Amino acid sequence: MFAFNDILQKIEQEITRLQFTYPPKSLYDPIEYILSLGGKRIRPALVLMACNLYKENVDTAVNPALGLEVFHNFTLLHDDLMDDADKRRNKPTVHKVWNANTAILSGDAMLIAAYQLIGETESESLKEILDLFTRTALEICGGQQYDMEFESRTDVTEEEYIEMIRLKTAVLLACALKMGAIMGNAPKADAETLYQFGINIGLAFQLQDDLLDVYGDTATFGKNIGGDILCNKKTFMLINALRLASNTQKAELNSWIGKKTFDPAEKIAAVTAIYDQLRLKELSEEKIHAYYNQAMNCLTSLNVAPERLNILKEVSARLMNRQS
Ligand code: IPE
Ligand code: IPE
Ligand code: MG
Ligand code: MG
Ligand code: MG
Repeated sequence: MFAFNDILQKIEQEITRLQFTYPPKSLYDPIEYILSLGGKRIRPALVLMACNLYKENVDTAVNPALGLEVFHNFTLLHDDLMDDADKRRNKPTVHKVWNANTAILSGDAMLIAAYQLIGETESESLKEILDLFTRTALEICGGQQYDMEFESRTDVTEEEYIEMIRLKTAVLLACALKMGAIMGNAPKADAETLYQFGINIGLAFQLQDDLLDVYGDTATFGKNIGGDILCNKKTFMLINALRLASNTQKAELNSWIGKKTFDPAEKIAAVTAIYDQLRLKELSEEKIHAYYNQAMNCLTSLNVAPERLNILKEVSARLMNRQS
């Protein structure tokens, strides 16, 4: 059985083996750039961990795992352009180093490369893996579209927010786990349970990401703090701030949301101050714990020896306490 660090090491080795060095260099350099900046590699790790619950040799799961990581990095190129984000993994984003068209086209090439890698899955599982991946990729586009549309709405409900983050983030973690289960020939019921575990961990993961976007530290988070506040992202915190605010606080929030020109640091400080007053960090943390607990509940119904589940418990705990 693999330990967490063995899995990460294996993924890192496999990623360096990927070659994006054909001409034109200007198309492939940004791909090498984003993939070499690391990141947590959580999605490919989940594929291999889920597979390893059922099989000692996880080699057949490596290609789909790499495909998901390349796909995830593709979404980041487009997401940073859509969110107008300047920094990722402590480095300037692709559209800043190059330009918007490069982020679009190199991103497109990565999506295709992701399909190519996933297409190299062994034939018995290929159709099921491709169906799952395609459905997931379309769901993510849907989630990203809601995320963008919500920026210009002020009546987004918490329920709509949860559905949006389920689509943009949670389904990819869930897909990773289910892919691993399929490659490990897990019982069907277990593959579904692992998918549900992934949804709950994924919801907690995006809530934590939104929390870190306000309360994290730029150097460790690797992204600029306050980006979500600047774009009026309808996060759990902003939705609940609008719900819980006094009349004065509500007027102040709405005034910042409506401003076309403002000093970014001033807007971030003012909105964060209202979040502090309303204790939204604590409210978010409670919500994160609730999804974490639901995820842990899912694990109890798997047909796997309890000690084999420790790795999923370890990774979940790390994700809940993450600062990056
Ligand atoms: C960033 O994902 C996008 C979100 C879904 C929040 P990660 O936080 O997994 O990014 P990396 O790959 O570790 O950099
Ligand atoms: C990103 O959500 C989800 C996808 C990339 C599909 P965010 O926009 O919150 O991710 P970060 O914070 O830029 O990593
Ligand atoms: Mg973003
Ligand atoms: Mg985004
Ligand atoms: Mg974010």
